Amino acid sequence: MNFKRSDFPEDFLFSAATSSYQIEGHSFGGAGLTHWDTFAATPGNVVRAENGDIACDHYHRYEEDLDLAAAMGLDAYRFSTSWARVLPEGRGTPNPEGLDFYDRLVDAMLARNLKPMATLYHWELPVPLADLGGWRNPDIAHWFAEFTTAIMDRIGDRMFSVAPINEPWCVGWLSHFLGHHAPGLRDIRAAAHAMHHVMTAHGRSIQAMRALGMDNLGAVCNFEYAHPANDTPEAAQAARLYDGVYNRFFLGGLFKGEYPADVIEGFTPHMPKGWEKDFGLIGQPLDWLGLNYYTCKRILPDDGPWPGYKEADGPLPKTQMGWEIYPDGLHHFLTWTHEEYTKGLPLYVTESGMANADTPDHPDQERIDYLNTHVAAAKQAMDDGVPLKGYTFWSLLDNYEWALGYEKRFGLIHVDFETLERTPKASYHALVKALAR
Ligand code: FCB
Repeated sequence: MNFKRSDFPEDFLFSAATSSYQIEGHSFGGAGLTHWDTFAATPGNVVRAENGDIACDHYHRYEEDLDLAAAMGLDAYRFSTSWARVLPEGRGTPNPEGLDFYDRLVDAMLARNLKPMATLYHWELPVPLADLGGWRNPDIAHWFAEFTTAIMDRIGDRMFSVAPINEPWCVGWLSHFLGHHAPGLRDIRAAAHAMHHVMTAHGRSIQAMRALGMDNLGAVCNFEYAHPANDTPEAAQAARLYDGVYNRFFLGGLFKGEYPADVIEGFTPHMPKGWEKDFGLIGQPLDWLGLNYYTCKRILPDDGPWPGYKEADGPLPKTQMGWEIYPDGLHHFLTWTHEEYTKGLPLYVTESGMANADTPDHPDQERIDYLNTHVAAAKQAMDDGVPLKGYTFWSLLDNYEWALGYEKRFGLIHVDFETLERTPKASYHALVKALAR
């Protein structure tokens, strides 16, 4: 690596992230069915119809995985709690094995001096709630608060930080407008409702955790830099709207008490009744904001109804996901978020990384370069005055990459999905050196 720990303030936190459905193995320990299980079981949704039944078997191998995280020299570990593992019916009686698992997991982090950074929801909605309309149903805010209390009543005394929901854009737009993720809907009304309810659910969850006396609560949003694909005013306008839907909608709700006018113009006929009155709930004071950043897009105008844009191919080198590598976007989002929205609130990079078709003995230079350039962009933002407090790599392990199955390898540690053997990659070894004290 071309950075080292001593380039950063003493209390700067390096961490790696995972999420429950992507690594744990959802067929174990009494977890309930999730909408990812039914989505994956429907032909055409997921590569080879792969699901999270076994995943990395982290449910049984978490000690080994946390040993590897600690040996990398990390200060913290960002993990998520599965709603369906804790409350198999989505509400009501908790699954004691699920609560015990997260209890053991958190203690195992603390035993290794890894600060637990929890995300409550990283996309595995219990099917009984999906049957009731899932994120389209306004009651989800109350269901989610119930889940928040059930899990945090058990582990909330040991959290370093908590965010309710990973990447509202993915929960809302990607899953209900583009249809790429569970529940696979392509419907503007469903998308508008889900995007608003994800915000009200966030607010109720924060309230539930404050009621338990918890602090260091935040939110985790994802960002994509939108380049106009050519220099016409139409492309500039299309890119601006892409930025509105992706980047400005959720920050507006969380920090400005409003949604951006250009997005609301298209959404108005489809928004849930009374949405304008919910910003008091949505804008609960937060202690930090987390940014997930991977790539940029090239945007063109498109015929047809609002939002009237489409993606075009871009010129930069791409990862295994086909995502362009654009570290300047990370610098942009850190400075812009700080200046326009969070104004001094501590920021964290909560996900950053790339997929590659790795084998255990691959030299892994692409990932080393990717991490170097992105960490440098974050450091530049700090030098420019952004209060960045930590940097999280996605991901600790190769894992279930949602609709793309087990093929896209984001891990610092290679996982053989036949034998489940873990092999640290060259980027892992490079980080061991960079993070040494
Ligand atoms: C993010 C998700 C994470 C993983 C990475 C590649 O959007 O939070 O689960 O899929 O992308």
